[in-house]
Amino acid sequence: MPTAPRSTLSRRQLLTAGAAAFATVAARGRLAHAGKAKAPPPGPSPSSLAGTLEQMKLPYPESALAPGISANVVSFHYGKHHKTYVDKTNDLVKGTPNAGKTLDELIRATAGKPDQQGLFNAVAQVWNHDLYWRSMKPKGGGTPSGELGKKIAADFGSFDAMVKELSTAATGQFGSGWAWLALDPADGKLKVMKTGNADNPLAAGKRALLTIDVWEHAYYLDYQNRRADYVKAFFDSLANWDFAAENLARKA
Ligand SMILES: [Fe+2]
Repeated sequence: MPTAPRSTLSRRQLLTAGAAAFATVAARGRLAHAGKAKAPPPGPSPSSLAGTLEQMKLPYPESALAPGISANVVSFHYGKHHKTYVDKTNDLVKGTPNAGKTLDELIRATAGKPDQQGLFNAVAQVWNHDLYWRSMKPKGGGTPSGELGKKIAADFGSFDAMVKELSTAATGQFGSGWAWLALDPADGKLKVMKTGNADNPLAAGKRALLTIDVWEHAYYLDYQNRRADYVKAFFDSLANWDFAAENLARKA
């Protein structure tokens, strides 16, 4: 999604940041140095500091997305799948020059490099899930207003046309992957994307505004093979257009 600042944040900074600020900061993703009371000094992280990525906190209780997504699915998805990617990232960067780098930096550095595929998959899946949880909210759905609403109408013709295109991308993604509403800096227009496995818009130089996880672990326990019903529930009662609007408004 976003362009990442160069500096890292300490755990205390993350804990004391306001909820809104934390949402934005953590969505950008960075490796915090656990146990450090103060932010590390500017410049490269000392090699003796192991980078420790902390899994983002869910912005709502696990049961809050029901009935669109059950507490059972959120619990497994967040507590097992997402956490595994965080643990994997920490294992791969520990004691390496990558410790302390932001998720954005690591994604850009590893995208498209076969010898870095393992690290890319882990880091990108952390980043993707960080965005996914914020792409939803309890009693979400509806239609966006303001600048996002205007831009969707300008770039897709209407909100309904965008939802139709994004739904088609989500249901049509073959196998595991993601569907995205993204801003293409090349022409300044919003676009629908679908990506396989861990791939994401950031790796393609685009800014993600909203995402739908279409890996089976995101919906199978609730919907079995009915991915279209899960996607419909996303737009009917879960989509967090306020989050998408924040991502659109963010400077670079
Ligand atoms: Fe997932």
